[in-house]
Amino acid sequence: MPQNMRILLKSTPVGPPGPEHFEAAHCDMPVATENQALVETLYLSLDPYMRGQISGRHLSGAVKPGDTMRGEAVSRVISSNMKGLKAGDLIAAHTGWQSHAVISDGVFRLLGFDALPPSLALGVLGMPGLTAYAGLKRLGEPKAGDRLLVSSAAGTVGATVGQIARLMGCETIGIAGGPQKYAWVTDTAKFAACIDYKNEKIRDGLMRLCPPRPPLGGVDIYFDNVGGDVLLAAMENMALHARVILCGLMTQYNTDSIPAGPPPGLIIRARATVRGMVVYDHEDMRAEAIDKIAAWIKSGDLVYREDMTIGLEHAGATFARLMRGETFGKVIVKVAN
Ligand SMILES: NC(=O)c1ccc[n+]([C@@H]2O[C@H](COP(=O)([O-])OP(=O)(O)OC[C@H]3O[C@@H](n4cnc5c(N)ncnc54)[C@H](OP(=O)(O)O)[C@@H]3O)[C@@H](O)[C@H]2O)c1
Repeated sequence: MPQNMRILLKSTPVGPPGPEHFEAAHCDMPVATENQALVETLYLSLDPYMRGQISGRHLSGAVKPGDTMRGEAVSRVISSNMKGLKAGDLIAAHTGWQSHAVISDGVFRLLGFDALPPSLALGVLGMPGLTAYAGLKRLGEPKAGDRLLVSSAAGTVGATVGQIARLMGCETIGIAGGPQKYAWVTDTAKFAACIDYKNEKIRDGLMRLCPPRPPLGGVDIYFDNVGGDVLLAAMENMALHARVILCGLMTQYNTDSIPAGPPPGLIIRARATVRGMVVYDHEDMRAEAIDKIAAWIKSGDLVYREDMTIGLEHAGATFARLMRGETFGKVIVKVAN
């Protein structure tokens, strides 16, 4: 008898998670009743916000030891009792780290990206893409000639922000760790320049690539995915009326203590606007974001990367790689063909 495989949180990590904090469990296949459908997971998305769920600090709630890990996946419908959904259809839904699930009306998106790969519904055409598009357009208010700085520029959110900003006429500067990511950001994603913060002091890179715009610094828009020293250095270089979008805190997800942040005096001096980004607030822009980003992918103006692992049993180890900063591109687990 085929069984459903699930990945559970085994214990709550202190510090970076490892494969030992997750365990596989097998149980009976779920059964679809009226107005439900049985789906098989094809691609599972792994995202930094899951670290916040594990430590109970994420706004979507906590995952406790013994719980199935939560997450969004692209799945194929195996059988359906739902009007308008048939076997073979592809959907995206928050079905969690498991091989099979039952979905109900209103909790999934039917996919249809023409010629583009379905896994993109979890990355550049999914939640991270919407974060980039809405965060930049709505909160960053970019205009041609602005200089945009973005951290974690080789990640899905950062790379998409930088490329959309370039398409809107901004000068785009990325921050990424290591020579491989540096080369991809500049050569493939076509940022104007990049600071490899593992090989150059961030403040030296900012002086070189974001020279001051008197009376203040040279960064018009800073899209922050990491927090910490990089955020502080970027804010020390804000231009007059700069916009700062606080989107992610990669440097802090694995710690329990909250380090001192940038002093408010820097915001006041630059008359800057600092705005927090929560992707859930921008659902109304999803269709527009998908249309635009898909068109840019097809025209070759926007590139993306996927970091694909095969096998649901490797989800825990892959998530540990993500939280150590060792992944490069949208982190996906391929669960079935
Ligand atoms: N606010 C929202 O609604 C929202 C929605 C989606 C995502 N986000 C946030 O956006 C950020 C980017 O998300 P993403 O999905 O595109 O992931 P991602 O950029 O692939 O995130 C992982 C990358 O973060 C970088 N990083 C920097 N400092 C790190 C550290 N101390 N430890 C580990 N990694 C570090 C690493 O790149 P380098 O090697 O280049 O440093 C790493 O590869 C995350 O902070 C995420 O939480 C927020």
